[in-house]
Amino acid sequence: MKQVRLKDKEFRVSIPAEKIQETVLQMANKINADYAGKDVPLFISILNGSFMFTADLFKHIDFICEVTFLKLTSYKGTSTTGSVRQLIGVNEAIAGRDVIVLEDIVDTGITIEQILGQLKSFEPASVKVASLLFKPEAYQKDFEIDYTGMEIPNDFIVGYGLDYDGLGRNLADIYTLIS
Ligand code: IMP
Ligand code: MG
Repeated sequence: MKQVRLKDKEFRVSIPAEKIQETVLQMANKINADYAGKDVPLFISILNGSFMFTADLFKHIDFICEVTFLKLTSYKGTSTTGSVRQLIGVNEAIAGRDVIVLEDIVDTGITIEQILGQLKSFEPASVKVASLLFKPEAYQKDFEIDYTGMEIPNDFIVGYGLDYDGLGRNLADIYTLIS
């Protein structure tokens, strides 16, 4: 079993890279089917965590589209702070557009709820959410996530864009905290 140590914590592989890639492709296939023929949908990728997911998913998207990036943060160490700061705004025109928000993971749902609230005021034609990972046990909201790659237990993970205090984002596999 592959393990990594980041600062004071030990992590063990829980989702191998091949499984992640398979899941990303399945998500892209669904999105391709749903958005075929739509007028230039806009993907909004939530940084930092979603950069790898966005890059891999985007390579499989087969319709004419745009992508932009929004930088937010709610985590400090291994637990959510509950408050979300918006650090970089979206400059692209959103009114009347079909928008797909790309998240690495939906945990409590605080971040995505805040994003959806902010997006609504720009009057998009539609907004859907695609999240590679979802922690059902941690989720505190009741709106549906439109595209979910994998449901995972309520454990802290790193890798594939996800970090522990900024570290571990470069790992191709996803690792779960063991101690
Ligand atoms: P939420 O607001 O609680 O849904 O948290 C969403 C954000 O917290 C995600 O976009 C991630 O950046 C981060 N996050 C949630 N769970 C984890 C985890 O297990 N490891 C690393 N980051 C996480
Ligand atoms: Mg994130």
